[in-house]
Amino acid sequence: MEIKKVGIAGCGLMGSGIAQVCIQAGYQVVVSEINDELLNKGIDSIKANLDRNVQKGRMKEEDEKAALGRLKGTTEIRDFADCDLIIEAVIELMEEKKKLLSALDKICPESTIFASNTSSLSIIEMASATNRPDRVLGLHFFNPVPVMRLIELVHSLATSDETVNTAAEFGRSLGKEVVIVKDSPGFLVNLLLTPLMHEAMKALESGLATMEDIDTAVRLGLNHPMGPFTLADLIGLDTVYRISSAIYEETKESRFAPPPRLKQMVLAGWLGRKTGKGFYEYK
Ligand code: CAA
Repeated sequence: MEIKKVGIAGCGLMGSGIAQVCIQAGYQVVVSEINDELLNKGIDSIKANLDRNVQKGRMKEEDEKAALGRLKGTTEIRDFADCDLIIEAVIELMEEKKKLLSALDKICPESTIFASNTSSLSIIEMASATNRPDRVLGLHFFNPVPVMRLIELVHSLATSDETVNTAAEFGRSLGKEVVIVKDSPGFLVNLLLTPLMHEAMKALESGLATMEDIDTAVRLGLNHPMGPFTLADLIGLDTVYRISSAIYEETKESRFAPPPRLKQMVLAGWLGRKTGKGFYEYK
């Protein structure tokens, strides 16, 4: 099946990044938000990113214009009715995602593939809200989407091989590397990342080393681009907490249990870069 038109539900940090890479790859894109204010904010961030590409000489002005010409913003779900692939990047609440997929299932042709950008929720549970579980899968992008080269393609028990192949080809057409993972708590990347972050937080709590030294150790000793505290602040501590809790909920393995301090920081509203304070402070 050929993907020509892509729908993206949600134009926040992830949805806008996904929309940007899709229009840059030549797809027609319709992106939605729950109101005009959020929609405009998301579209402005896409424009700002493309402007930066032009300023840095990575993109021609006419290519930016053409890319933006392929982008349509909407607050109406009916605008997704002729999409070949819809990627949802709405709030990480299973009930919201199921409600959206169920509504899309009623208005889209049988052939439309539904993908979720979820980082921790079950794909088969989302698929159960539709009459097309063979055409539902996860396409998990990473933040910042234009820069990060990975997509975790998550297939449930019911996802068909044809859907996996079409989605993998689509992912590669965006210039990304695609890894194929089973629908299981934390998929692959967060299954590996969560214990590292928890151990870093425990090391800090126990006084093993300072936060800065733990970050430096991981950055220079393991060659990660960011240490675990800087990365947690980038991802958002609410998101880190939610991912840990979701994996722990399913596995009951102590290494996934979110440290109490993480929960306290989330309750205090210290969510990382987006609120100006997390493990570090941001001006
Ligand atoms: N959007 C678009 N481009 C961006 C960007 C953004 N938000 N942030 C940075 N960039 C670009 C910059 O324009 C720059 O490009 P040029 O060098 O061509 O000008 C390039 O990325 C490097 O940026 P900087 O020089 O500002 O900074 P850096 O070298 O420290 O790189 C980084 C920044 C790319 C974020 C890098 O630190 C990095 O890779 N960090 C790790 C990010 C990571 O692990 N993300 C995954 C999080 S987990 C997740 O998303 C999934 C989940 O389920 C939680």
